Amino acid sequence: MRRKISIAIDGPASAGKSTVAKLLAQKLNYIYVDTGAMYRVLTYAVLKAQLDPGDENKILSLLKKMTISFTSEDLSQQRVWMNGEDVTEEIRADVVTNNVSEVSAHKKIREEMVARQQAMGADGGVVMDGRDIGTAVMPKAELKIFLVASVEERARRRYEENISKGMTVDFETLKREIAERDYKDSHRKNSPLVQAADAVKIDTTGMTIEEVVSEIEKIIEI
Ligand code: CDP
Ligand code: CDP
Repeated sequence: MRRKISIAIDGPASAGKSTVAKLLAQKLNYIYVDTGAMYRVLTYAVLKAQLDPGDENKILSLLKKMTISFTSEDLSQQRVWMNGEDVTEEIRADVVTNNVSEVSAHKKIREEMVARQQAMGADGGVVMDGRDIGTAVMPKAELKIFLVASVEERARRRYEENISKGMTVDFETLKREIAERDYKDSHRKNSPLVQAADAVKIDTTGMTIEEVVSEIEKIIEI
């Protein structure tokens, strides 16, 4: 059997990271770690506790007391848990999306999250997606992928995703929110979103999910 490796997938919002990472993990029989969901859980808790998203120390003490876990028997149905409470749907709310970049910009928060993520991936056989996986969480990952797509295309994907869930959304608002989050994630001081020097960049504009997965599989075969 092929040796189990670690795969890091990074990129901006709606580049297809989690969809592609899940499919890849399923095909390879690897575990999948959605690090964005972890920052979303924390942001959800911050808002619920009515903490200021800028208050690093209070957020850190909240995080230290919190368990964040995934149930991963069937990755397409993966659930996200906070202290044993299922928060899978809650963490996708707009109010969470619009505050997550501020909460995740704090140095001490990132240190704690990175330590947890490294422990989850310690045995290899992992596909992990986020913003700093190839640069900070798994700098020695055997394979690093940096997924990008035009902001138009990413907004269209989010738009279609929302429509399919019966939600009404304004395309231009979505586009603006995605661009704003990209800006914040790429310009923060602590491990900003940046392509690792040894990452393979794939521009997924105009590509289907299956095409992206098969391109990555080809890279793994080499
Ligand atoms: O909405 P999308 O799926 O693109 O984002 P996500 O992967 O759920 O991540 C939500 C947010 O968490 C990002 O916009 C970042 O601010 C933060 N994040 C991070 O700082 N580092 C990571 N490794 C993953 C996510
Ligand atoms: O995790 P990230 O925010 O990077 O993106 P995602 O949640 O995996 O993908 C956002 C949406 O784009 C999902 O509805 C995917 O099905 C869709 N998508 C697509 O249509 N074509 C791709 N090549 C990748 C994703």
